[in-house]
Amino acid sequence: MKVLIIGSGGREHAIAWKVAQSPKVEKIYCAPGNGGIGQVAECVPIGAMEFDKLAAFAKEKEIDLTIVGMDDPLVGGVVDVFEKEGLRVFGPRKNAAILEGSKAFSKDLMKKYHIPTAAYENFDNPEAAIAYLKEKAEFPIVLKADGLALGKGVLICNTLEEAEEGVKTIMLDKKFGSAGNTLVIEEFMTGREVSVLSFVDGKTIKTMTSAQDHKRAKDGDQGLNTGGMGTFSPSPFYTKEIDEFCQKNIYQPTVDAMAAEGREFKGIIFFGLMLTEKGPKVLEYNARFGDPEAQVVIPRMKNDMVEVCEACIDGTLDQIDLEFEDNAAVCVVLASDGYPVSYEKGFPIEGLENFEGKEGYYVFHAGTALKDGKIVTNGGRVLGVTAKGATLKEARKNAYAATEWIQFENKYMRHDIGKAIDEA
Ligand code: AMP
Ligand code: GLY
Repeated sequence: MKVLIIGSGGREHAIAWKVAQSPKVEKIYCAPGNGGIGQVAECVPIGAMEFDKLAAFAKEKEIDLTIVGMDDPLVGGVVDVFEKEGLRVFGPRKNAAILEGSKAFSKDLMKKYHIPTAAYENFDNPEAAIAYLKEKAEFPIVLKADGLALGKGVLICNTLEEAEEGVKTIMLDKKFGSAGNTLVIEEFMTGREVSVLSFVDGKTIKTMTSAQDHKRAKDGDQGLNTGGMGTFSPSPFYTKEIDEFCQKNIYQPTVDAMAAEGREFKGIIFFGLMLTEKGPKVLEYNARFGDPEAQVVIPRMKNDMVEVCEACIDGTLDQIDLEFEDNAAVCVVLASDGYPVSYEKGFPIEGLENFEGKEGYYVFHAGTALKDGKIVTNGGRVLGVTAKGATLKEARKNAYAATEWIQFENKYMRHDIGKAIDEA
């Protein structure tokens, strides 16, 4: 088979690495890819939003399967364009990717189908939002831009003043562009966060092993929100009882709700959960693998990913036994100092060869480029260093040891990825 992967981050590198292990696969392309993905796939200089060019490329190269890694093309309808051209593609159509593309939609869906989530109201009008905040709100309160905002469109406001400022930022100043045309105002929840990713074929859902992300830039969950600074898998807080509750009350009901709405979902559903005192509740849905959740979940997956993706497309996921290794993995993101605000790039990266042939150690490239035959830094999040271990503690020790194998100017990382496991 020839496989095309759409995207350019650490998540897509992890997907490409996994696809490369399938005995069915003879050639992998990645559009646009990055410096590291180029080691397992041929990178093609087509942007993830250039749907017609992507489809034309897939036809020309007779691609047998396209896997879409990123949210923007999914929400924009890349799957519909590929299907119209008769191409096989893994991911939700536009009418289903709205599960991630519109928070107002996903909140209304959860309410209609009694899926546990935080109480909320949607607003199209800033005056109405402010009136609501003045009359009804309890603080802290959460403001969310409806649309995609690189994971940054969520504001937690401690006072009425902060919340009024937040409404202005999202709805009037349009800090997140048209994503802020509609605003969700949501109850603030407390508890542990867990990410549960799943494969879905329209009817059947099979969940993967759990993970936890660390979204803030600095140690102790301080600093600004980022795309994710590190992950561990599994989450020791995600117990068998919690899993049973979620399978019954959240996972299958979400798939059934989408089907009932005429929005059959095929692809990945990522459930962002908060384990509250009153039970697990949905924080958000994503319509794709998490980044950097993929970098800890995929290395632990035993199945041939190509087979699982094909089963989702064909509606035969019920015949797949999804299996994960009985171990743990930790991913520490090596970033450019100054991320997520401003940072320099273009620095040569030393030590990547230390990972070659080391079982259970991986370096997934996020923001790298190939310049004059050398891998250089080319983004805020540069690399994801993943290591496995028999236990979470061992995996963490291994991952932090491996972060020392890599050097580049400006290297920045959190030192407390997976610290929470000490409390488990
Ligand atoms: P989201 O993009 O919706 O996952 O939100 C980003 C982050 O904001 C989440 O990972 C949580 O840490 C936080 N967050 C979102 N919604 C809430 C909420 N209702 N209560 C508390 N924290 C939240
Ligand atoms: N790591 C969170 C996300 O991919 O949205």
